[in-house]
Amino acid sequence: SEPLKIAIAGLGTVGTGTVKLIQDNLNVLAQRTGREISIVAVSARSRKNRDFDMSSMTYYDDAVDMAENCDADVVMELIGGSEGIAKEVVEVSIAKGRHVITANKALLAHHGTELAKLAEEAGVALAYEAAVAGGIPVIKGLREGLAANSFDLVYGILNGTCNFILTNMRETGRDFDEVLTEAQELGYAEADPSFDVDGVDAAHKLSLLSSVSFGTEVDFDAVYIEGIRNISALDIVNAEELGYRIKLLGIARKTEHGIDQRVHPCMVAKDQPIASVEGVLNAVVCNGNHVGTTMFEGAGAGGGPTASAVVADLVDIARGTILPTFGVPANALAKPIAQPVEKR
Ligand code: HSE
Repeated sequence: SEPLKIAIAGLGTVGTGTVKLIQDNLNVLAQRTGREISIVAVSARSRKNRDFDMSSMTYYDDAVDMAENCDADVVMELIGGSEGIAKEVVEVSIAKGRHVITANKALLAHHGTELAKLAEEAGVALAYEAAVAGGIPVIKGLREGLAANSFDLVYGILNGTCNFILTNMRETGRDFDEVLTEAQELGYAEADPSFDVDGVDAAHKLSLLSSVSFGTEVDFDAVYIEGIRNISALDIVNAEELGYRIKLLGIARKTEHGIDQRVHPCMVAKDQPIASVEGVLNAVVCNGNHVGTTMFEGAGAGGGPTASAVVADLVDIARGTILPTFGVPANALAKPIAQPVEKR
């Protein structure tokens, strides 16, 4: 069959990791999909030399121009940001009948329902495995692997930067401000690092997990959010002495009043498996009504792991599988019920 043609918007850590993964694993990808995969176009803010061969790809300065005019079947939006260029790239790509793969949790947290509807009407995929917990296949895990279950609770460690900070504070006894710089040097922090430490990034991801778990429209504005700035080394020592670890958790729960979504630091008993998820790792726990409690753990950020998730979505598309973005047809997503929880 015809090669599957890809365009990549954004050549930062994730974009570059994705090009490298595709080039490295061309054979195995071709074997698994029965199709050759070809990167035909890329766009990035600067045309500087990258450490991969771009000679067979058309370079665009303008990602929207690429989305409009390139020759690709699939556009990967790896730019980031909830508004502006990233959103336009996704909208234009869908309008042009191209499948979209994105790692952009902020965009989907704010516009996920509307974009999923557009994609469904156009008959294209809007895939985002990479947007939640990086390399851990948690969207596929919940939406495909556990599709037979009903859930009433899904929670997890959804921000690697915060988990690294909390782990490091516990191990070294240092305070938040001292370890923050180190966490940023890892290169996993958001462009605006307050999104990490104030819980916004985890809330973006939680709103997507919640939608895919409960079949509700994405409802970021209903998430109660509290970050880790006010956690002191002493808090961590005290928790430790009582048999707990402090973790920033995102929690989505079905209640009689609707879906309760919250991100805040939690005391987690040390014998809970999630308490041992340390450093930049992420984890998601859910309790399916027939499968029981299931935990996914792994690398939640970084070029290689995030690219692994991006390309898993590409494999679906190459195989001809278009999965419903949030697990049910976009028009059938339930309206979220307003929550009586305290707001920001
Ligand atoms: N800033 C995020 C984190 C990157 O630290 O987990 C992955 O979304």
